[in-house]
Amino acid sequence: MDRMNSLMLNTDGVQIPQLGFGVWQIPDQEAEHAVTTALEAGYRHIDTARIYGNEAGVGRAIAASGIPRKKLFVTTKLWNTDHGRVEQAYDESLATLGLDYVDLYLIHWPAPKQDRYVQAWRSLEKIYREGRVKAIGVSNFTLDNLERLDREAELTPSINQIELHPYFPQKQLRAYHTANGILTEAWSPLGQGRGLLEEPALTVLGDKHGKSPAQIVLRWHLQLGNVAIPKSATPSRIRENVDVFDFLLDDEDMAALGALSKGTRLGPDPATFNWMG
Ligand SMILES: NC(=O)c1ccc[n+]([C@@H]2O[C@H](COP(=O)([O-])OP(=O)(O)OC[C@H]3O[C@@H](n4cnc5c(N)ncnc54)[C@H](OP(=O)(O)O)[C@@H]3O)[C@@H](O)[C@H]2O)c1
Repeated sequence: MDRMNSLMLNTDGVQIPQLGFGVWQIPDQEAEHAVTTALEAGYRHIDTARIYGNEAGVGRAIAASGIPRKKLFVTTKLWNTDHGRVEQAYDESLATLGLDYVDLYLIHWPAPKQDRYVQAWRSLEKIYREGRVKAIGVSNFTLDNLERLDREAELTPSINQIELHPYFPQKQLRAYHTANGILTEAWSPLGQGRGLLEEPALTVLGDKHGKSPAQIVLRWHLQLGNVAIPKSATPSRIRENVDVFDFLLDDEDMAALGALSKGTRLGPDPATFNWMG
């Protein structure tokens, strides 16, 4: 795991590799091959979710890899329809993955309309206290959602996994996370590969460092202290995205990336996303 520069979670002794492999939109049948390629390339952290429908494929790749379980970091997520049945949903995810624990279990979205995320969080706390999961966290939580947990729950989430890339750098939430011992995990870290990776500023920085635009963006995440989970179904890109530990962006480079901010999301706004699909 050390090659991936692991970060400490606010949970005793648990570390997360700063770079992980995301598998959203990889169909179950292809997930096994993609995760196998990622593990061979050196990733030790896999990010899936119940709603992705590929926990089984991820589990098959893990089982076939021969890598000792404790050297892997596996995240899955509680879907919106399961806020009232957390323990069953967790057990179902474990059964589908073929694992007896995951390293990190996240509430996927607050889904504020049904107003059950505090209750769901208390159930995650229970699973954690029982030692059935290494760490618990949230995803897509807004400042309001985090402040409410702080008032009404006992444990602070170890991570908030949120949309974050140079077009949408989430300064305010990152500051709150830092002040409260919460790690920031970036989803769509490459801006979903569209538009962003064609930005001229990234080509300039890529030429300067002998790296691709995607590698420049991932390096920016690492230097901000984010955990980043790029997805690719393309073997050459899977390998390219992990080759980001041998160079450094300087202050001027970081500022050039910071100047790309548009303040607009690619994905849904968590304050209004209540999809129960
Ligand atoms: N918690 C949440 O609500 C949430 C929401 C969205 C995503 N996520 C997590 O975050 C992960 C990553 O987010 P994402 O999949 O939305 O977007 P992303 O990782 O920012 O971008 C993925 C896209 O970029 C392309 N790509 C990857 N590496 C590239 C490279 N080196 N050069 C050029 N293009 C490249 C991929 O194409 P190919 O696959 O064709 O190579 C794919 O189309 C997901 O897989 C999931 O695990 C979580």
